[in-house]
Amino acid sequence: MAENYRTSYKPYYKSEGSLRDNAAVLYANIKFSSIDNPVKTIVLTSTIPAEGKTSIIIFLAMAIAEQGKSVLIIDADLRRPRVGRYLGRRNEIGFVNYIFKEAPLDSVVCPTTTSNVYFMDCGSKIPNSIEIFESEKFDQMLKFLRTQFDYVLLDTPPVSMFIDAAVIAPKADGAVLVCGYGQTSQKQAKDSVEQLKNANANIIGCVLNKIPEKRLMYGNNKRYLRYYGYDVDKKDKTKRKGGANNQA
Ligand SMILES: Nc1ncnc2c1ncn2[C@@H]1O[C@H](COP(=O)(O)OP(=O)(O)OP(=O)(O)O)[C@@H](O)[C@H]1O
Ligand SMILES: [Mg+2]
Repeated sequence: MAENYRTSYKPYYKSEGSLRDNAAVLYANIKFSSIDNPVKTIVLTSTIPAEGKTSIIIFLAMAIAEQGKSVLIIDADLRRPRVGRYLGRRNEIGFVNYIFKEAPLDSVVCPTTTSNVYFMDCGSKIPNSIEIFESEKFDQMLKFLRTQFDYVLLDTPPVSMFIDAAVIAPKADGAVLVCGYGQTSQKQAKDSVEQLKNANANIIGCVLNKIPEKRLMYGNNKRYLRYYGYDVDKKDKTKRKGGANNQA
């Protein structure tokens, strides 16, 4: 495996504690929403840029690792790869180099300084080609990694701008749509859900991120993101399952 990565990620000024706590609840929701069919490979996407996918993926990975489970973060956002930067630095080689037979798989899986958290960059100087994700080799890689880690989290570009997430999501066990509060309208979010469903993705939930503190201050209960599980068995698959059990 490649050298260690630093994961001393510097989150948002005062929300670090809340994001960490909320990521733990998000993990619990993901875990309990899929007891019969364990969701191990999870795509995070959003409608538009900057809704918080990369940040949430990192906190979610840490929450998973804190529970003693191993987790691999794959930066599958070839358009704007930021996981490496948030973790400390980019890796010159990544899974795209593996796909193109330029590097062995174990050389692109990097341990991080947080035990149980592993990181796979996409690599540098890579083409923005959807064929990478459509390839048999990407499929096989994902299937193999699923057997090596308890969870594999994939960061992807926003669905309203690029097709990538809709191509990757059906290959994963589940997809989570991140919605930045005040950034995406309900209509836009529904369109994204439709797009992912049409691609045969298994949408397991939505995260409402960046909720202003003043909207969430009930007593001392600060919350910065909230998770809504999707009940895929219900007729109206876009209907949110609210209630205390689904909040993060
Ligand atoms: N819960 C939050 N509270 C405050 N700021 C946040 C929160 N989540 C994300 N941010 C901020 O929003 C910005 C975008 O976050 P991030 O890079 O994680 O989003 P993204 O969806 O991955 O963006 P992109 O589409 O460019 O990949 C960053 O400046 C980040 O610090
Ligand atoms: Mg990102």
